[in-house]
Amino acid sequence: MGVWRFNFSSSDDWAAATADALAVEIRDALSRKAKVLVAIAGGRTPSLILPLLQRRRLPWARLRFIPTDDRLVEDGHPARNLDRLREWLAPAIAGGATLGALECLSASEYPDVVMLGLGADGHVASIFPDGEGMKAALTETQSTVRTTPSPLPPEAPFPRITLTLAALLAPRRVIISASGADKKDAYDLAIASGHSKTPVAILLEQDKTPLSVFLCAPAAARHTASNRQEATA
Ligand code: 6PG
Repeated sequence: MGVWRFNFSSSDDWAAATADALAVEIRDALSRKAKVLVAIAGGRTPSLILPLLQRRRLPWARLRFIPTDDRLVEDGHPARNLDRLREWLAPAIAGGATLGALECLSASEYPDVVMLGLGADGHVASIFPDGEGMKAALTETQSTVRTTPSPLPPEAPFPRITLTLAALLAPRRVIISASGADKKDAYDLAIASGHSKTPVAILLEQDKTPLSVFLCAPAAARHTASNRQEATA
């Protein structure tokens, strides 16, 4: 499917471009629906993007946010994505936006807007290359499944709940944003190898939903907006 890839060597430019793209997708969804469900990645990337998004004038009361995935730990645990989103979305929440736990999403409810991060192993959300529940995450049509990565990621060694691939691909266009040479390498491997079955490679190979990919790496070429159809064979 159409992949628009944007490479940045400046973290500020990368974050600003991602926030711009997120605002565009939110506004597009708002033109079609009264209330819009926005799924934001776990991990640290959103802490760089959300403050820039919230500088924009958006009808926050018409937005409901959820994490794309979460660690199955108690609320208040430092690894809980929901709690970090509550912190990073405080201005939007003060403006009337709501935030929900992924565990409370109904089985048939899909997000209208998705911003994903990318793991160095090619995982997106909590769909990992290996582990329990990964096949279900890629094939089931309900909105969420539980997964247990194998090996457990050292930075968050917990079972997970994640939006399924079907739910992640529900928007008109999905945003992937990642910073770091390791993440860029994971993306490039997914393109180069073709048959690599990492989750990001599967996203690139599908032909249902266009992707906008924002990558920041020190050695990355300067901003080269490219809306070419990237080889994903
Ligand atoms: C999680 C995520 C995960 C994350 C990537 C990137 O719960 O960890 O949702 O998929 O988006 O691992 O993480 P960073 O943004 O911290 O690089």
